[in-house]
Amino acid sequence: MSATDSRSGRVLGIETSCDETAASVVVDGRHVLSSVVSSQIDLHARFGGVVPEIASRAHLDLLTPVVAEALLQAGMEGPEVAAVACTVGPGLIGSLLVGVAHAKALALVWGVPFVGVNHLEGHLYASFLEEPDLELPAVVLLVSGGHTMLVLMEAPGSYRLLGQTIDDAAGEAFDKVARYLGLGYPGGPAIDRTAMDGDPQAIAFPRGLKGDGFDFSFSGLKTSVVTYVRKHPDVATVDVAASFQEAVVDVLVTKARAAAHETGAKAICLAGGVAANSVLRERTLDVCIADGLHPYLPSRSMCTDNAAMIATAGWWRLQSDGPTPLDAGADPNLRLLFQS
Ligand code: KG4
Ligand code: ZN
Repeated sequence: MSATDSRSGRVLGIETSCDETAASVVVDGRHVLSSVVSSQIDLHARFGGVVPEIASRAHLDLLTPVVAEALLQAGMEGPEVAAVACTVGPGLIGSLLVGVAHAKALALVWGVPFVGVNHLEGHLYASFLEEPDLELPAVVLLVSGGHTMLVLMEAPGSYRLLGQTIDDAAGEAFDKVARYLGLGYPGGPAIDRTAMDGDPQAIAFPRGLKGDGFDFSFSGLKTSVVTYVRKHPDVATVDVAASFQEAVVDVLVTKARAAAHETGAKAICLAGGVAANSVLRERTLDVCIADGLHPYLPSRSMCTDNAAMIATAGWWRLQSDGPTPLDAGADPNLRLLFQS
């Protein structure tokens, strides 16, 4: 695709890897013309988590209107799109397949390139959308429902993995603890809200692997919340929520800060759904101010799953690798490629 082509920068992004059906049009990987997200939270809430079969069926129902709305809000007709980018993994296979089949069909009909995007790479690019002059290298703390990673972003498309969770993802810990405390689904926002009325120092929950490299561990913390509540049935739920959240944020921010020091990074970026957490945002900002680092805290809607980040990552991928062949499939376990 030529960068000088008048429609070349307009990428339609599609995201269906989990429980959000999303479509967006982004120009040149930077300017968002539209970003439509239809959440399935209400459909899954009574099950306490995402039910894969329900998710894929809902994507089937919702994707056509969501794409139509994204084009309408962008003031465009489908054939004016220069490429269709879609999440091809990681995620729930049924949900991914709905998006991938739809994206390939649109690309074929409109005669434009299809670009397969790694969902995690999409999260890494979310900061670029709101901070076009983002300074690199940056340490990105990618914290979502399925992943927890510290990544050094050296240039667009060039990343080094500094560390990752050896068991639960941070978002998974939020969701499991919220379910145990009866706070509902999704757990992260519920704990965030509940913790506002609690004392973060009330209970000294363990900080897994703190001071020990850049890997994370959250399963011990989850177990210790359960053990504590069993032993102290009268404890105030607000204090448990606040102390749990404090333990997670303490480890995340301490490691991101140490990673920035060790690598000489100029910035710390937050990415992924847990980056919407109010205490994590506050604490990251404090550390960046104290250490003279640039804080990049994407807006909450850009932290959680959306298709603008997929269109952006797709635009960059198109520049570096060209279109993805139409016979490439979805991969529920797709991994991000890191520099060694
Ligand atoms: O990135 P995301 O939308 O989907 C995945 O790719 O996983 O992240 C969803 C995760 C869930 O675990 C959710 O509980 C968590 O992000 N989350 C939060 C907050 N908002 C969403 N965790 C803590 N505090 C929040 N405010
Ligand atoms: Zn995500």
